[in-house]
Amino acid sequence: MAAQWIRRVISPKIGRTRFYSSDVKKCTLIPGDGIGPEISAAVQKIFDAAKVPIEWESVDVTPVRGPDGLFGIPQAAIDSINRNQIGLKGPLMTPVGKGHRSLNLALRKEFNLYANVRPCRSLEGYKTLYDDVNVVTIRENTEGEYSGIEHEIVDGVVQSIKLITEEASRRVAEFAFQYAQDNNRKKVTAVHKANIMRMSDGLFLKCCREAASKFPSVKFEEKYLDTVCLTMVQDPQQYDVLVMPNLYGDILSDMCAGLVGGLGLTPSGNIGLNGALFESVHGTAPDIAGQDKANPTALLLSAVMMLKYMGLNDHARIIEHAAYDTIKEAKYLTGDLGGTAKCSEYTDAICKRVIAAK
Ligand code: IPM
Ligand code: MG
Repeated sequence: MAAQWIRRVISPKIGRTRFYSSDVKKCTLIPGDGIGPEISAAVQKIFDAAKVPIEWESVDVTPVRGPDGLFGIPQAAIDSINRNQIGLKGPLMTPVGKGHRSLNLALRKEFNLYANVRPCRSLEGYKTLYDDVNVVTIRENTEGEYSGIEHEIVDGVVQSIKLITEEASRRVAEFAFQYAQDNNRKKVTAVHKANIMRMSDGLFLKCCREAASKFPSVKFEEKYLDTVCLTMVQDPQQYDVLVMPNLYGDILSDMCAGLVGGLGLTPSGNIGLNGALFESVHGTAPDIAGQDKANPTALLLSAVMMLKYMGLNDHARIIEHAAYDTIKEAKYLTGDLGGTAKCSEYTDAICKRVIAAK
């Protein structure tokens, strides 16, 4: 499914067919920090078991000091992502309070990955307070409250600019409707606070209305962010696809993930015109790093999203079901899901199902 919308949304603009041939494709892999390397290894093992026709190109994104004295993403990593136009990324640590900008954000900015897509679905067999949650948050990923424009006007007064442009709002709004249409979704909800931020959210909302008019088969509604938070926890089934500015999407996507079991279970994809980067959005969990205790599900499901994006739908389906069935069976769950299995035991259980399904 996903590959079809990508093909339609993206390919006409960049005239690219490389993802859809049957050859082995190269994908950039950023294993990340903390538990990143072990969950990345788990994904690679499962992909090997499923004989996914891709070759990983592992890169290190530890910032390096450039000729201008500023720290940035190493050129080799940038070149790899630009070449392959597709990547998978584990969690990256951002030192707090040392003047570092998040590397996670730097990657989104560097490759202009303008739409952040996070599907949240209840997993059968993993009981939470909610059943049958099935929502997708689509977040503007390049500007808004994340534009990083802040300054001190005078002592004790700082200003932070929320930058909203018509161009970025329109492209993410159209992306959301295209996604809804191609994935058989019925409704897009624009989430905003245009009653307070009349100009910025007002512009975002106007772009959503215009996009809605181009997709008459998809229902459209507008809701205030606070109302969505309230009703999402009361009755999540009334929502389908939600589109919103950057910070609202950051917060609401975590909330939705909480409804289905947390960030350890939910995938994420950052999509741009010239490539896409799929990532788990949980932390690096340094306390359990290297102990074979981590849950690789979020990264695995992000990798499944990546396969769909590449048009490798059969492989995606087999791996996705193997993971769902392993969780449902509840025999090899990691500690975060209330089990005692090691990451490697959970991974092996998925591999067995993948091999049996082939
Ligand atoms: C996310 C994360 C990031 C964000 C952090 C790690 C910078 O919370 O991807 O949701 O705020 O966007
Ligand atoms: Mg977040």
